[in-house]
Amino acid sequence: MSGSKLKAPRGTFDVLGEQAAARSALEARARTVLEGAGYERIETPVFEATELFSRGVGESTDIVRKEMFTFEDAGGRSLTLRPEGTAPVCRAYVEHGMHKRRQPVKLWYLSSFFRHERAQAGRYRQFWQIGAEALGSEDPAVDAESIALLATVLALEGVRNVRLRLASLGSLQSRSEYRERLQAHLRAHAGSLSEDVRARIDLNPLRAFDSDHPGTQRVMESAPSLLDHLSAEDAGHFAEVRALLDLASVPYEVDPTLVRGLDYYTRTVFEFTSDALGAQSGVGGGGRYDGLVEQLGGKPTPGMGWAAGIERIMLAGGPPPAAGTSVELFIALESATAEQRRAAFKLLSDARSAGLTAQLDLGGRSLKGQLSNAGALGARFVAILGDGPATLKDVQGGEQAQMPVETVVHAVLRGHHAL
Ligand code: HAM
Repeated sequence: MSGSKLKAPRGTFDVLGEQAAARSALEARARTVLEGAGYERIETPVFEATELFSRGVGESTDIVRKEMFTFEDAGGRSLTLRPEGTAPVCRAYVEHGMHKRRQPVKLWYLSSFFRHERAQAGRYRQFWQIGAEALGSEDPAVDAESIALLATVLALEGVRNVRLRLASLGSLQSRSEYRERLQAHLRAHAGSLSEDVRARIDLNPLRAFDSDHPGTQRVMESAPSLLDHLSAEDAGHFAEVRALLDLASVPYEVDPTLVRGLDYYTRTVFEFTSDALGAQSGVGGGGRYDGLVEQLGGKPTPGMGWAAGIERIMLAGGPPPAAGTSVELFIALESATAEQRRAAFKLLSDARSAGLTAQLDLGGRSLKGQLSNAGALGARFVAILGDGPATLKDVQGGEQAQMPVETVVHAVLRGHHAL
């Protein structure tokens, strides 16, 4: 029975071909940066108890209110496809007793996340993030190191026209005092606010800074600034983060209107944007979440981290670096007799055992077709097997030599210099 063609769901995409290769290369570079800085890989489940996100990310956030893919399992438990990685990492920190390890515990991930958003370029329903979280230290050096690492990752990927916006939300205590002032300001101008902002004065007044509604924006111009209401301790912490970023030559702008779409932040918050992205300009962002671990049932534990969208990095990044020669030996057949095919298969397996990257043409092409395939793959050496001795060509150097099939692997290993 034939059926109609099926497509990937809206807001999702397949990763293949050049895109897949570019992602692997990005992953390798980011891994080098993060593991070099002492971050260890962590992977958490794709779905979690819904409560983890309603408690961790916050009931009043857009993510929890309208963007989660939530379902019930057969036992009637509510589960959610992870919309972000920080709450799951904190859950894992508590579940595995990581507070007993040397602090801070530094973890990184590269995983897919799910948000039911209106799909457009740079905004998907399944997307990938690279993220880094450091738990167990409130040292401002952790903040500065973490931000500098993301700056390095973005620079390595050639992300263009990057801007780093930085602010401090203060501790929960100073923030709650500030919230009251802001709520009073919003109530006094309630008539000029958008409906959405007005409805959230009690629940999440800070989101008013994020509004694109002109009336709300005018009201926010005269709103009290959180940065002017930090406690002395929070202000000192923020000053030190800035001083360390200056020392590390990471340029930033202090932006008192910066708000992030998640409720767990305290103290430092930041966002990297790129003009190359258009409307979805956020490439990556994060901040401190000193209350989150405790809120998820752990001991009071400070935390700091970020996540950056892989698709957005790739959209805003420079051209992917030219693919290195990944095929060292390509094996072609003059005529595909059963004997030649066996000899080729043995050579392929010998080459791989010797640590070479090798490929054999499996497409049943003519010799000419096989050689053009080798060219397209950027093969460094091509071995042509016929009835007599093999011919080994150094594609870059242009030389070629005849030799018994058994010596081809040695010749390639040596022949990185001369045949
Ligand atoms: P976030 O700002 O919600 O933060 O997401 C981080 C990055 O993920 C964004 O800057 C963007 O590049 C990418 N992103 C978000 N939503 C989408 C989407 N629908 N399509 C494509 N890319 C998207 C967090 O998720 C926090 N967990 C970051 C963090 C870690 N804070 C502390 N630690």
